[in-house]
Amino acid sequence: MVRLELTLAIIKPHAVKNPVALSYIRNEIKNKFIVVKTKRVSLDKETASNFYKEHVGKFFYNRLVTFMCSGSVDVHVLGGGGAVAGWRRALGPTAALRAQFLQPACLRALFGISDTRNVAHGSDSPASAEREIKFFFPEFSFYDWHHTDEVMFR
Ligand code: TYD
Ligand code: MG
Repeated sequence: MVRLELTLAIIKPHAVKNPVALSYIRNEIKNKFIVVKTKRVSLDKETASNFYKEHVGKFFYNRLVTFMCSGSVDVHVLGGGGAVAGWRRALGPTAALRAQFLQPACLRALFGISDTRNVAHGSDSPASAEREIKFFFPEFSFYDWHHTDEVMFR
Protein backbone atom coordinates (compact mmCIF):
# COMPACT_ATOMS: atom_id res chain seq x y z
CA MET A 1 0.00 0.00 0.00
CA VAL A 2 1.40 3.33 -1.04
CA ARG A 3 0.58 5.96 1.57
CA LEU A 4 1.04 9.40 0.20
CA GLU A 5 1.85 12.03 2.77
CA LEU A 6 -0.35 15.11 2.74
CA THR A 7 0.39 18.72 3.59
CA LEU A 8 -1.52 22.00 3.65
CA ALA A 9 -0.36 24.92 1.53
CA ILE A 10 -1.89 28.39 1.70
CA ILE A 11 -0.88 30.83 -0.98
CA LYS A 12 -0.93 34.18 0.77
CA PRO A 13 -2.82 37.27 -0.46
CA HIS A 14 0.08 39.17 -2.07
CA ALA A 15 1.02 36.10 -4.13
CA VAL A 16 -2.58 35.42 -5.18
CA LYS A 17 -2.76 39.04 -6.39
CA ASN A 18 0.46 38.72 -8.44
CA PRO A 19 -0.23 36.76 -11.65
CA VAL A 20 3.44 36.06 -12.37
CA ALA A 21 4.02 34.71 -8.86
CA LEU A 22 0.80 32.72 -8.89
CA SER A 23 1.47 30.96 -12.17
CA TYR A 24 5.05 30.18 -11.15
CA ILE A 25 3.87 28.77 -7.82
CA ARG A 26 1.14 26.71 -9.48
CA ASN A 27 3.65 25.24 -11.91
CA GLU A 28 5.97 24.31 -9.07
CA ILE A 29 3.06 22.67 -7.25
CA LYS A 30 1.92 20.75 -10.32
CA ASN A 31 5.45 19.54 -11.03
CA LYS A 32 6.11 18.28 -7.51
CA PHE A 33 2.82 17.25 -5.90
CA ILE A 34 -0.59 15.77 -6.45
CA VAL A 35 -3.18 18.47 -5.84
CA VAL A 36 -5.78 16.68 -3.73
CA LYS A 37 -8.03 19.61 -2.86
CA THR A 38 -8.09 23.28 -3.67
CA LYS A 39 -10.23 26.22 -2.69
CA ARG A 40 -9.97 29.99 -2.81
CA VAL A 41 -11.26 31.73 0.30
CA SER A 42 -11.25 35.14 1.94
CA LEU A 43 -10.33 34.68 5.57
CA ASP A 44 -12.09 36.72 8.22
CA LYS A 45 -10.25 37.84 11.32
CA GLU A 46 -11.69 35.11 13.50
CA THR A 47 -10.69 32.32 11.11
CA ALA A 48 -7.16 33.65 10.53
CA SER A 49 -6.63 34.21 14.30
CA ASN A 50 -7.79 30.70 14.97
CA PHE A 51 -5.61 29.13 12.29
CA TYR A 52 -2.51 30.87 13.63
CA LYS A 53 -3.38 30.52 17.33
CA GLU A 54 -0.03 28.83 18.11
CA HIS A 55 1.49 32.28 17.50
CA VAL A 56 -0.78 34.24 19.88
CA GLY A 57 1.31 36.75 21.84
CA LYS A 58 4.21 36.88 19.38
CA PHE A 59 5.19 40.31 18.09
CA PHE A 60 4.07 39.52 14.54
CA TYR A 61 0.72 37.92 15.38
CA ASN A 62 -1.59 40.89 14.73
CA ARG A 63 0.33 41.86 11.59
CA LEU A 64 0.11 38.29 10.32
CA VAL A 65 -3.63 38.00 10.94
CA THR A 66 -4.35 41.38 9.34
CA PHE A 67 -2.26 40.47 6.31
CA MET A 68 -3.92 37.07 5.86
CA CYS A 69 -7.29 38.86 5.72
CA SER A 70 -6.12 41.45 3.17
CA GLY A 71 -7.18 39.43 0.12
CA SER A 72 -8.10 35.97 -1.08
CA VAL A 73 -5.87 33.00 -0.33
CA ASP A 74 -5.60 29.72 -2.23
CA VAL A 75 -5.72 26.71 0.07
CA HIS A 76 -4.35 23.44 -1.30
CA VAL A 77 -4.03 19.95 0.09
CA LEU A 78 -0.90 18.56 -1.53
CA GLY A 79 0.06 14.90 -1.65
CA GLY A 80 3.27 13.09 -2.40
CA GLY A 81 6.14 11.19 -0.82
CA GLY A 82 7.58 13.48 1.85
CA ALA A 83 5.05 16.20 0.95
CA VAL A 84 5.41 18.06 4.26
CA ALA A 85 9.17 18.53 4.01
CA GLY A 86 9.00 18.84 0.21
CA TRP A 87 6.62 21.81 0.28
CA ARG A 88 8.63 23.49 3.02
CA ARG A 89 11.78 22.98 0.96
CA ALA A 90 10.09 24.56 -2.04
CA LEU A 91 9.11 27.52 0.17
CA GLY A 92 12.50 27.98 1.81
CA PRO A 93 13.27 29.92 5.00
CA THR A 94 10.49 31.95 6.66
CA ALA A 95 12.03 35.41 6.22
CA ALA A 96 12.24 36.58 2.60
CA LEU A 97 15.64 38.26 2.91
CA ARG A 98 17.13 35.27 4.65
CA ALA A 99 15.63 33.07 1.92
CA GLN A 100 17.25 35.20 -0.78
CA PHE A 101 20.61 34.78 0.90
CA LEU A 102 20.37 31.07 1.73
CA GLN A 103 18.23 29.56 -1.02
CA PRO A 104 17.88 32.01 -3.93
CA ALA A 105 15.63 29.82 -6.10
CA CYS A 106 13.03 29.03 -3.44
CA LEU A 107 9.53 30.53 -3.64
CA ARG A 108 10.04 32.83 -0.67
CA ALA A 109 13.27 34.17 -2.15
CA LEU A 110 11.66 34.74 -5.53
CA PHE A 111 8.34 36.25 -4.46
CA GLY A 112 8.60 37.06 -0.77
CA ILE A 113 8.40 40.70 0.23
CA SER A 114 8.99 40.52 4.00
CA ASP A 115 8.93 38.19 6.99
CA THR A 116 5.14 38.29 6.97
CA ARG A 117 4.44 38.51 3.22
CA ASN A 118 6.42 35.37 2.55
CA VAL A 119 4.37 33.79 -0.25
CA ALA A 120 2.79 30.77 1.36
CA HIS A 121 2.14 28.67 4.41
CA GLY A 122 3.29 25.07 4.74
CA SER A 123 2.46 22.59 7.50
CA ASP A 124 5.49 21.92 9.70
CA SER A 125 4.83 18.21 10.43
CA PRO A 126 2.44 15.45 9.39
CA ALA A 127 0.50 15.99 12.64
CA SER A 128 0.14 19.73 11.92
CA ALA A 129 -0.86 18.87 8.36
CA GLU A 130 -3.69 16.67 9.56
CA ARG A 131 -4.96 19.34 11.96
CA GLU A 132 -4.67 22.09 9.33
CA ILE A 133 -6.33 20.06 6.57
CA LYS A 134 -9.27 19.38 8.91
CA PHE A 135 -9.40 23.09 9.74
CA PHE A 136 -9.99 24.05 6.11
CA PHE A 137 -11.66 20.85 4.86
CA PRO A 138 -13.65 19.46 7.80
CA GLU A 139 -15.25 16.85 5.56
CA PHE A 140 -11.90 15.51 4.35
CA SER A 141 -11.52 11.80 4.98
CA PHE A 142 -7.96 10.69 5.67
CA TYR A 143 -9.17 7.11 5.75
CA ASP A 144 -10.57 7.28 2.22
CA TRP A 145 -7.52 9.09 0.97
CA HIS A 146 -5.17 6.46 2.32
CA HIS A 147 -7.21 3.40 1.45
CA THR A 148 -8.71 3.76 -2.00
CA ASP A 149 -7.15 2.57 -5.24
CA GLU A 150 -7.75 6.05 -6.57
CA VAL A 151 -5.02 7.25 -4.22
CA MET A 152 -2.47 4.77 -5.39
CA PHE A 153 -2.93 5.32 -9.08
CA ARG A 154 -3.95 8.95 -9.31
P1 TYD B 1 6.32 30.43 11.46
O1 TYD B 1 5.41 29.27 11.72
O2 TYD B 1 7.43 30.68 12.42
O3 TYD B 1 6.97 30.34 9.99
P2 TYD B 1 6.63 29.37 8.77
O4 TYD B 1 5.53 30.02 7.97
O5 TYD B 1 7.91 29.30 8.00
O6 TYD B 1 6.21 28.05 9.34
O7 TYD B 1 5.45 31.77 11.39
C1 TYD B 1 4.19 31.78 10.77
C2 TYD B 1 4.07 33.01 9.94
O8 TYD B 1 4.17 34.16 10.77
C3 TYD B 1 5.15 33.21 8.90
O9 TYD B 1 4.92 32.50 7.71
C4 TYD B 1 5.10 34.70 8.69
C5 TYD B 1 4.80 35.23 10.07
N1 TYD B 1 6.04 35.67 10.76
C6 TYD B 1 6.36 37.00 10.76
O10 TYD B 1 5.63 37.83 10.20
N2 TYD B 1 7.51 37.42 11.38
C7 TYD B 1 8.33 36.53 11.99
O11 TYD B 1 9.39 36.95 12.54
C8 TYD B 1 7.99 35.15 11.99
C9 TYD B 1 8.90 34.15 12.66
C10 TYD B 1 6.83 34.75 11.36
MG1 MG C 1 4.81 27.54 10.78
